[in-house]
Amino acid sequence: LSVLSVASEAYPLVKTGGLADVVGALPAALAPHGVQVTTLLPGYPAVTAAAKRAKAVHQWPDLLGHPARLLASKLGDHPLLILDAPELFARPGGPYADATGRDWDDNWRRFAALARAAADLASGAVPGHTYAVLHAHDWQAGLAPAYLRFAPGPGRAAKAVATVHNIAFQGRYDAEIFPHLGLPESAWSVDGIEYYGGVGYLKAGLEAADAVTTVSPTYADEIREPRFGMGLEGLIAAKGERVHGIVNGIDPAIWSPEIDAALPARYSARTLPKRAANKRAVEQRFELDPGPGPIFCVVSRLTWQKGMDVLASAVDALVGMSGRLALLGSGDQALEAAFREAAQRFPGRVGVRVGYDEALSHLLQGGADAILIPSRFEPCGLTQLYGLAYGCVPIVARTGGLADTVIDANEAAIAAGVATGIQFPEVTLPHLTRAITRAVDLYDRRTPWTQMQKNGMRQDFSWGASGRRYAQLFASLVEGLE
Ligand code: ADP
Ligand code: GLC
Repeated sequence: LSVLSVASEAYPLVKTGGLADVVGALPAALAPHGVQVTTLLPGYPAVTAAAKRAKAVHQWPDLLGHPARLLASKLGDHPLLILDAPELFARPGGPYADATGRDWDDNWRRFAALARAAADLASGAVPGHTYAVLHAHDWQAGLAPAYLRFAPGPGRAAKAVATVHNIAFQGRYDAEIFPHLGLPESAWSVDGIEYYGGVGYLKAGLEAADAVTTVSPTYADEIREPRFGMGLEGLIAAKGERVHGIVNGIDPAIWSPEIDAALPARYSARTLPKRAANKRAVEQRFELDPGPGPIFCVVSRLTWQKGMDVLASAVDALVGMSGRLALLGSGDQALEAAFREAAQRFPGRVGVRVGYDEALSHLLQGGADAILIPSRFEPCGLTQLYGLAYGCVPIVARTGGLADTVIDANEAAIAAGVATGIQFPEVTLPHLTRAITRAVDLYDRRTPWTQMQKNGMRQDFSWGASGRRYAQLFASLVEGLE
C-alpha cells in the first residue's frame, strides 16, 4: 500500500518541533507493515541543498501563480518528493516566518501550492505517481484533502487521512483569498473550506478527509470539548468514531542512550551510574555549580501552550528546594527574557540557553535528572518520551499525550513498581511547585527514583504498535471499510 505523506517539516531536513520528528519517522515506522511512504516537502533552501542530485520528475508552469518542479530524492532510505518552487520557498529564515519571526504574508499561497501539488500527485495528474492514501499533516497540508475532493486530477483519487498534531494552529485566512485557490464555488460552504466567514485550512482538511487522526487518545477526547477544540470541537465531535487517537512513537536510531553520539557517556538501564558523566557535562555547559540535588531540565518552545510562564514563576521555589535548572528553548521574547533574568538572579543554580540546539537537547535528556513539561495542552509531546527512554524523569501536566504516557509516582504505583514520572493536575504555580517538591523528595530517597528511571527506560515507546494502527487504518480505508 503506497502513501503520500505531506507536511511542512521533516527531521533531519527541517524541524521546528515534534511534527518534524514524527513525519521523519513514519516511513520507517510503516515499512514493516507493508506500507511504503513517500514524503512531500516544500523546497526550502535546507531541503533542496540536502538533495543536490535530485532529479526533476514533473513541472507545473503555473502552480497557483508560480512555476514549480517536483524533485525526487531520499529521506533516509525512503522516497522524498520536493516541491521546488523558488518564488515560494527559496527564502532565508524559517519554514513559516522570516528571520525576525514575522510570518510570511503569502503563507496561504505557499501551503495552498503544497496542497495542490499533493492532490495532483494523489489523483493521477502526475505521470508515474499513484498513491492509495494521501496523509496530510496539520494545517499546512490541510487543503490537500479539499483539493482532492473538490478539484481532483484526472485519475482515481486516493483516500485522505488528516492528522492533527496541534489544533491550536489552524491556518485561518480572509475570504478574499478564496478566488485565488483554484477551487470551485461548491468548495465555499460550511462542509467545505469556509470557516467563520473566512477560509480554514485545517478545518478544510478535517472536513474533506476520509478519516482524522490525532497523536494521542486523550487528546482525541479533549478536542471534542471547547476548552481544547479551539473552535473545531463541533466538527471533531460530529466525526465521532472517525477520529482516531494514535500515540506517537520515538525513532530508536536517533533517541537511544546506548548509541547516542551527543552523549559523553552512553548507558542503558543496567549501567545507569554512567549517566553521572553526562550530568557533569550538563553542569559545565549550563554553568551550574556541582551539588548533590537534582538538575531539572527544560527542552521546549517557550510559549503559553507549554506553560512556560508558570514555570518561570516557579524558579524561586525550585532553587529554594536545592534544585538546579538547565533550560534550552526559544519562543516568546518575554519568556526568553524572564528565563535570562532568572539565570542572572541565580548564578550557578539556573542556566539558560536561548536558541535551538539538537545536540544539546540530547545531552540534557542524557544528563539531567528530570524534565519539566507543564503544558496547558499537549497533543502528544515527545520530550517526555525521550525523557523516559533516557532515564530523565518526566514531570508533566496531566493532559493529552502526557497523561497517556507517564505513570504517576503515587505510593501505590511506587509500591507496584510501575511509576515512571510525576503528573500534576493543573498548570498553576501551587500544583507545579508541589510536583517539584514531590520530585525532590523522591530523588532524595534514591531507590524509588532509580526505580522510576529504570521503569521508564524499560517501556517500549518505539513505533511498533502505532505503526500498525496507522497501517490498519490506511488498509481499512482502501478496502472501503471505514
Ligand atoms: P512541540 O512539537 O509542540 O514543540 P514536542 O514535544 O512534540 O512539542 O516536540 C518538540 C521537539 O522539538 C522535540 O524533538 C524537542 O527535543 C525539540 N526541541 C524543542 N525545543 C528545542 C530546542 N530549543 N533545541 C533543540 N530541540 C528542541
Ligand atoms: C505538535 C504537538 C506535540 C506533538 C507533535 C508531534 O507539535 O504540539 O504535542 O508531539 O506535534 O505530533
